[in-house]
Amino acid sequence: MCGIVGAISKNKNILPILITGLKNLEYRGYDSAGIAYLKNKKIKITKVAGKVTNLSSKLNKEDTSTVGIAHTRWATHGSANSINAHPHKVNHITIVHNGIIENFKELKEMLISLNYKFKSTTDTEVAAALLDFYYDKFKDINKTITEFMKNVKGSYAISMLIDNDLESIYVLKKESPLIIGTANNMNIIASDIRAILKYTNKYFILDDFEYAKISTDDITIYNKDQNIINKKLNIYQDKDDNTSKGNYKHYMLKEIMDQKDTILNTALPFIEKGIISILNMPDLTKYSKIDIVGCGTAYHAGLVAKYLFRELTNTKCDVYLASEYRYENNFLNKDVLTIFISQSGETADTIAALKLVKEKACPTLGIINVKNSTMTYLVDTCLYTKAGSEIAVASTKAYTAQVTLLALLVLSHGYRNKTISKSKTLQIIDEFNNINKLITPLLKQKERYIKIANSIYKEENIFYIGRGLDYAFSMEGALKLKEISYIHSEAYAAGELKHGTISLIKKNTPVLCSATNDKLNSKTISNLKEVIARGAKVYLITNNNYEDESFSIINIPKTSDFIKTILVIIPYQLIAYYTADLRGTDIDKPKNLAKSVTVE
Ligand code: M6R
Repeated sequence: MCGIVGAISKNKNILPILITGLKNLEYRGYDSAGIAYLKNKKIKITKVAGKVTNLSSKLNKEDTSTVGIAHTRWATHGSANSINAHPHKVNHITIVHNGIIENFKELKEMLISLNYKFKSTTDTEVAAALLDFYYDKFKDINKTITEFMKNVKGSYAISMLIDNDLESIYVLKKESPLIIGTANNMNIIASDIRAILKYTNKYFILDDFEYAKISTDDITIYNKDQNIINKKLNIYQDKDDNTSKGNYKHYMLKEIMDQKDTILNTALPFIEKGIISILNMPDLTKYSKIDIVGCGTAYHAGLVAKYLFRELTNTKCDVYLASEYRYENNFLNKDVLTIFISQSGETADTIAALKLVKEKACPTLGIINVKNSTMTYLVDTCLYTKAGSEIAVASTKAYTAQVTLLALLVLSHGYRNKTISKSKTLQIIDEFNNINKLITPLLKQKERYIKIANSIYKEENIFYIGRGLDYAFSMEGALKLKEISYIHSEAYAAGELKHGTISLIKKNTPVLCSATNDKLNSKTISNLKEVIARGAKVYLITNNNYEDESFSIINIPKTSDFIKTILVIIPYQLIAYYTADLRGTDIDKPKNLAKSVTVE
């Protein structure tokens, strides 16, 4: 979480560059923001609670500067106020920080015993004080940084200004991402590429336990032994990525609509030449089992793949939440392929789980959206979803792109292990080629979704139910609604409801259900009758022709299970969107959330 940007130039005013960079990083955290810059040979700090616009309006419009660092925060230690906002300055040292200093309590006690005083409740101020302590002790910045790295537990990307050397920015990194870009007349550092792309597409990636000194005309990168190292200069080349909101009211709505392109873009390399293309997918037949790991929406995409692997290709498959997986006994062996799913490629729990599998030298595959993100370098093989930049915190087009790649991976596996015939494979490839004809009508039913939104937006509890794959869709549908509308919404396996939760159903409780499996539908419909008998109002997404006036029905076309995984979620996404819109929430940046969860 949190976003860092910093810049140093001989003659450019870097203040607008830092503010623009922060705005581009706000999706990583937006509880509070702050900036430190050189003004009249001193560091001037401005910090605010709330969004980056609050910060830019507080800045003195006359000020200019050639060196500065800035931060947008997602609170971990201490509430989101201007005191806890970064930068933190302790004597000579001013820093902004992403990550969590795990041993900050012990360090703080030690520093208090040495007469350090703290204004905030953050771990970051402790890090600043520790750096100041070492700097005072060693009078040498290399020794200061390496000693800090030896003694600090946890994760950090830190950008630092030092009073005695205001012609440089220092950066150090462990586990949280940090890049250093080189632009015309300026060097610019950031926690991710989006902050710097307007100025440069050339950048160095700092690895764990590396640090750097950056001046106007030089970037020197060191390893933990204080040796200067040569790093590869990366060039970001995704020119097609459109990050504008266009005429849409919110990024989320635009991203939902983008799905008519992003799904096909993601699928194309694996479908355009029929069977030949599907064989571009990695061969999974050598593995005895597939494990899938992810968080939030990525985990839900994994649940969909689990059903497809098990039911359609007779392959053992389990799915795990990364935050649980990393602390469990995983029975790993070299015959098990572990698939890591992530939009950002930076989610801390998923990275930790991935590192764990790598330590055991077991095979890994990534399904990742953001190019050059941390996970893309760690996995053995990476399949990119082609969703483009997803700005809204609620994941929509990344989810359908993940599900698309996973469905095609399952299809190729089924073709290879002969559980799916050649003719069936060709039929499904054909469906993928025609995906836009199937999605577009679903995207266009705005009035329909608004009508449903109108009937549920004042509720405080909503249930989503389904069986099998429909249960997986329910989980994603419920997550979409709760994260942007703040309505409590829960997903249940339809058959599980009467084991407790049905006691919460009362007159007019909304129950949203998907029933798209011919084998299970009659059972799901019975469960719906049970909630209707208790007063629930029911909305049903189905590919069957039900005529029942006690349900409000949204029909989706009848397709294979592979395509169904993409279709069902679209009504759920749009119902969530219009419901949140009626409640007037900050849809693209819901409270308490951040796009990229880079802390445990
Ligand atoms: O970047 P990742 O895909 O690893 O992120 C995982 C979750 O944090 C993410 O899917 C989250 O649940 C979304 N906000 C859901 O819309």
